[in-house]
Parts: sequence; structure tokens; C-alpha cells
Amino acid sequence: MQPAAAEAGPVEAAAHHSTFRGICLTDLIQPIRGMNDILPDAAPRWQQLETVTRAVLAAYGYREIRTPVVESTELFARSIGEVTDIVEKEMYTFDDRNGDSLTLRPEATAGMVRAGLTHGLLYNQVQRLWCAGPMFRHERPQKGRYRQFHQIDAEAYGLPGPDIDAELIVMLARIWKRLGIIKPLELRINSLGTPEARAAYRSKLVDYLRRHEQKLDEDSKRRLGSNPLRVLDSKDPGMREVVAQAPNLLDHLDPASHAHFDALKTLLADADVAYVVNPRLVRGLDYYSRTVFEWVTTRLGAQDAVCSGGRYDGLVAQLGGKPTPAIGFAMGVERLVALMEEEGVPMPDAAPHAYLVRVGERAERAGFQLAEKLREALPQLRLVMDCSGGSFSGQLKRADKSGARIALVLGENEAQAEQVGFKPLRNNAEQVTLPWDAVIPRLAPWLE
Ligand code: HAM
Repeated sequence: MQPAAAEAGPVEAAAHHSTFRGICLTDLIQPIRGMNDILPDAAPRWQQLETVTRAVLAAYGYREIRTPVVESTELFARSIGEVTDIVEKEMYTFDDRNGDSLTLRPEATAGMVRAGLTHGLLYNQVQRLWCAGPMFRHERPQKGRYRQFHQIDAEAYGLPGPDIDAELIVMLARIWKRLGIIKPLELRINSLGTPEARAAYRSKLVDYLRRHEQKLDEDSKRRLGSNPLRVLDSKDPGMREVVAQAPNLLDHLDPASHAHFDALKTLLADADVAYVVNPRLVRGLDYYSRTVFEWVTTRLGAQDAVCSGGRYDGLVAQLGGKPTPAIGFAMGVERLVALMEEEGVPMPDAAPHAYLVRVGERAERAGFQLAEKLREALPQLRLVMDCSGGSFSGQLKRADKSGARIALVLGENEAQAEQVGFKPLRNNAEQVTLPWDAVIPRLAPWLE
């Protein structure tokens, strides 16, 4: 059905503020709260992060997997856990037209395991995989916390030993170093032990917390019955003392988890990667066992974790596969981009190398041909051809504004002679006139 405004025509619609089903058609449609546009000026920063990360992931043998943004709701409930904040209150869940309950992925791990099982990638195999893209959580938006945010996630399957835990963490340190943000980051590690050891600890913790119930905030009282380990993660300053005095998870580890954790610490020390053991680090997803870790910074305010992960040896079996050890992490792209900004990491140059000015009918036609000739010969060349017309000075102003290093200037005379003015814009060098063929070698040194 055509909206009323279309019948009236766009001009009239604008003039009369037409409505369609109660919606004012001339009002600007607002973006969704907590979901951001990444604008062209910011995109090179994202690309810088993605390029470095992809290169390091490839260097360690990780291969990309792309999974759907939507999965069945049950996948997340069964993996992240029914009584986690994510599943209880943050998922974008809806019934599709068949009545199936679907959810926009709040994280990548569950979907990657599901895809691995669907395609037999995990059965008796070692896999190093990564996946990047948008995730969705209906949290209260604030700086560093969004409802659509982006992760780069890496997972290693089939490897039970602490060396892969250490390798993942050292790989992250290498990424931070290449991005120029290693200094403001602190690595926190902990071990959650096996599910059995954790269950024993859990009952000790619950006894302790019940004895101090009057000091617990509302959230923690609620968690006491459902997910008491999360009480250790409370941000409420009034809870600091209760949490500090609570039994220590690391004192209750099973011997094998203890040895695993010790070996991880030795390997990190061997690699010169500094860490802090934080026995209160418990993570907000239920699938973890043994190693958990987080990279945090003091430079971004409350949302201080830029990357988090851990081992989840039980999840593959829990989702119907054969028992398969697994460990991984996810980086928060928005937070890392913000940290790179904060640290003043130099931006890669995304401005055009050259800007082609064309004045006159013949120059416009010749310039079109010249532009394609240059692009053919110099595949890395970023060349913008002025298509807005106007005088030399107007076009040269646009050339300058584009950030281009060189203006290529074509008037009628140059076009006729198959020549072009070559004008450096960022220094005082003189403009020279060159035959078309000479432009290619002249431009080449300007391209990185
Ligand atoms: P997570 O701690 O929930 O873990 O998220 C990982 C990272 O995503 C966080 O450290 C943070 O940087 C970023 N992040 C999370 N929520 C938001 C948000 N609302 N806005 C902006 N950034 C956010 C996981 O997702 C696990 N799947 C990680 C993992 C992979 N564990 C094993 N493998």
C-alpha cells in the first residue's frame, strides 16, 4: 500500500506534514538508542584495528568463520546460562513468522560452537577460529556500553593444555603492542577450576554470604540463590568489605586446575607478559571453567574491560558434541577504538593521493580517460576526480579540502596536448606540466 504522502507528491507532503498511520512522514527517523553509525571519519580507525588484528590472528594460525547474526534463543539460554544478566534481561528476542523464538546474538562464542557442531569442525580436531561482527545486548547505554557493539572473537578447540591459554594471551599482548596501546592495559587472570570444585566452593560462598546477608545489596541478594559467584563481581562500593572477606576461589581449586593455572603463569612470565591474579574475576557467562582473563584500562571510565575470555571445556558437550576442550576471547571494538583515540595512536592516512581537476568540456572527457588510465596502472592509487564542475580555483579549493597530496590539473590546452598539470598541495613545490605517460612514474613515489 502506498503511503498518503507518496500520493500527494514529495513537495506537497513536505509542505503539509502528511501523516501515514499516525507517523509524521517529514520527521527525521531517529536511530535506535545505543546503536551507532560508524561515520567515514571514524572508519579508518576501525580498519586500522581490524587490519592489525587480522594479520596477527593469521600469523598464529586462526582462520575466519562468519556465522549468522540471528540464532535460536535456546542456543544462548543453554550456553551463556539461564540465570545470567545477558539471558535474563539483555537479549533481543523475538518470534519469527513461523513462531520460532530467535535472538540477535549477544556474543559470538555460542554461535561458533553451534556452527562447529553443525559442520563437523570440532569432532576430534584442533581448530583455531575467529569471528568478527556486531553483537546485541539491551543494556543501559553509556560511554563504552552500547546495544549494538562489535567484537573480534577468537576460539581454539581441541587443546586442553595451558600452553594454548598462554598463547592466546600472548597473541593479544602482541596485538596491543602493534596497535600502540599495550601501556594502559592491565591483564587480570583467575582460575574457576572444574565445575565440581566450583560447586564445592559455591556452597562455602553461599554459607558465608548468608551470614552477611544484611550487608548485601538487592542485586546480590537475588544472585545469592541463583548465581552466587557473580556477587564477587559486585560494583557496589558498600559491598567491598563483604566481598574482600569472602572465601577465596583459588584456595578451593582442584589439584589439576591448580597445576594448569601455575603452568599458565609460568608461560606468561617466560613471555614477559605482566599479569595480576584477581581471585574475584568470575565473568558474567556460565560456560567457563579453569582459566578466565580480562584486559582492563583505567583510561576509559566505568566500562574498563576491552577484552575478556576464558576456557570453556564443558560447552561443546553441553551443546550436543563430544567433550572438547576450548578457550577463547572477545575484544570490544568500540572500547579499543576509544582507547586508541585516547592514547593518540596515529591514524593511517585515508585521504586521496591525488585529486583531478577538470575545467572545460574537452578536459572533462579527457580527464575521465586519464583517471581510468592512472587507476589501471597504479592499483593502490586513491584518486578523486572532481565531478562538480566550476572554475580552476573552486576545484582546487575542493582538492585542498579533500586532503589530497597532489592536484592533477586539466584545462582545455592540457587536454588537447595530452598533458596535465602536476601540483603538489602539501609543500611549496612548483606545478609542472607533464605528458600523461609521465604522470604514472611521477605519482608512484607518493603512494605508500
Ligand atoms: P564479554 O565479557 O561478555 O565476553 O564481552 C567481551 C568484550 O566485549 C568485553 O570485554 C567488552 O570489551 C565488550 N562488550 C561487552 N558488552 C559490551 C557492550 N554492551 N558495549 C560495548 N562493548 C561491550 C564474551 O562475550 C565472551 N563470548 C568472550 C569469550 C569468547 N569467551 C570465550 N570466548
